[in-house]
Amino acid sequence: MYKFPEGFFWGAATSGVQSEGSKNQVNKSIWNHWFQIEPERFSGGIGPEVVCDTYSRFKEDVALMKEINFNSFRTSIQWARLIKNFETGEVCDDAVRFYNEYIDELLKNGIEPIINLYHFDMPIELQERYGGFESKKVAELFALFSRKAFELFGDRVKYWTTFNEPIVPVEGGYLYDFHYPNKKDPKLAVQVAYNIILAHAKSVTEYRKLNLSGQIGVVLNLTPSYPRSQSEEDLKAAYMADLFFNRSFLDPMLKGEFPADLCEALKIHGLTPNIESEELNEIKSAKVDFLGVNYYVPRRVKAKETPDDKFYNPEFYFDYHINPEGRFNPYRDNNEIHPVALYDIAKNVQENYGNIPWYLAEIGIAMDLESEGDVKEDNLIDDSFRTELMKEHLIQLHRAIEEGSNCFGVHQWTFIDCWSWLNSFKRRYGFYRLDLATGERVKKKHAIWFSEVAKNNEF
Ligand code: FCB
Repeated sequence: MYKFPEGFFWGAATSGVQSEGSKNQVNKSIWNHWFQIEPERFSGGIGPEVVCDTYSRFKEDVALMKEINFNSFRTSIQWARLIKNFETGEVCDDAVRFYNEYIDELLKNGIEPIINLYHFDMPIELQERYGGFESKKVAELFALFSRKAFELFGDRVKYWTTFNEPIVPVEGGYLYDFHYPNKKDPKLAVQVAYNIILAHAKSVTEYRKLNLSGQIGVVLNLTPSYPRSQSEEDLKAAYMADLFFNRSFLDPMLKGEFPADLCEALKIHGLTPNIESEELNEIKSAKVDFLGVNYYVPRRVKAKETPDDKFYNPEFYFDYHINPEGRFNPYRDNNEIHPVALYDIAKNVQENYGNIPWYLAEIGIAMDLESEGDVKEDNLIDDSFRTELMKEHLIQLHRAIEEGSNCFGVHQWTFIDCWSWLNSFKRRYGFYRLDLATGERVKKKHAIWFSEVAKNNEF
């Protein structure tokens, strides 16, 4: 038996854009805009307008959470839904009503809400007027939006996070072309990353000013870098990948400082962002109470074989490598399955980041409709593949907890199959299937397993 600490969080995560739909939304995000101008880039030509329609169906959905024994749940408040006027912070009444009712419904059912403030969803108006996080002005406006959210809901919401995977909009929007505005500009990418860290710090500062009784943190996608071999060159490749993709956000957000080797590398390539010294003080003093970690796949790297002529992206320092002994998920681009990574992440947080309280904010095991198959005679969908993998991951997490890791919960990505950035509904991750034609939610077998784990706090 694997027993988890008392009060352990069991639940799922989603986000505003991916679950709510855009009904009655006055402002729009970059996702609505991008889908309008380039629908062909979205799998199946499906955009974010309807998705799970949680906006209308949240009561039914909270009942489904309760049915499978969630004691906690993360979603995000959409900036472009809550705020009517981004410059003054004037809010939309209907959005306030919606989020109030949603939060109250969760609480009434014994489900602790964890509310995130930015899940890739820049309001299009701010993207067009200021270039989104290209501008420090938008870091200030984000702090204003955060403050409004804390004031409106902070009496009941005890767990806040500023950003989900803050590096992803940098990668997608400014390095590799998978988020709007689809620029490929490493200099701008570094400035955007820095401005996001600043926005995070400003949001934490606003939270502290209000003296509320809850906690605030951030959700980072930590992807351990494993070298191909123990050669000096491969180890250096893994070190640099870790520096760019993990420590770039972990160090400033948890320790209040930027890794010296990262600053040095940026300087060599002429990529140092515009920084003011009072901003560094703000970043330093904005301490988080907890960390959320998203984990999907390990990063395998090796020494660069052919050097790039200049810095286009962090792959200047390494090449990707496929583990010849790896196991792979046939349902998701052959992603490597490596449960031990979770143990490694936990130990890293324990040993190098002061053993801060953290929770597994997303672990997602992708399947597609075909591999999950049709609804069976027992009215369930058979996704046992997911359960087997989840067990293996949780065993590794449990091992780290036994060794003192301060982990306080597990959230699966996701609750009801939701819409994903560009992939739309191609990959399925939910405890419940979403029938796109009818909007119906259909339970999967894995949900039954999970509900027992959540109830007994062990498996
Ligand atoms: C994570 C994101 C989440 C979802 C899953 C599949 O990286 O946080 O929004 O798209 O991937």
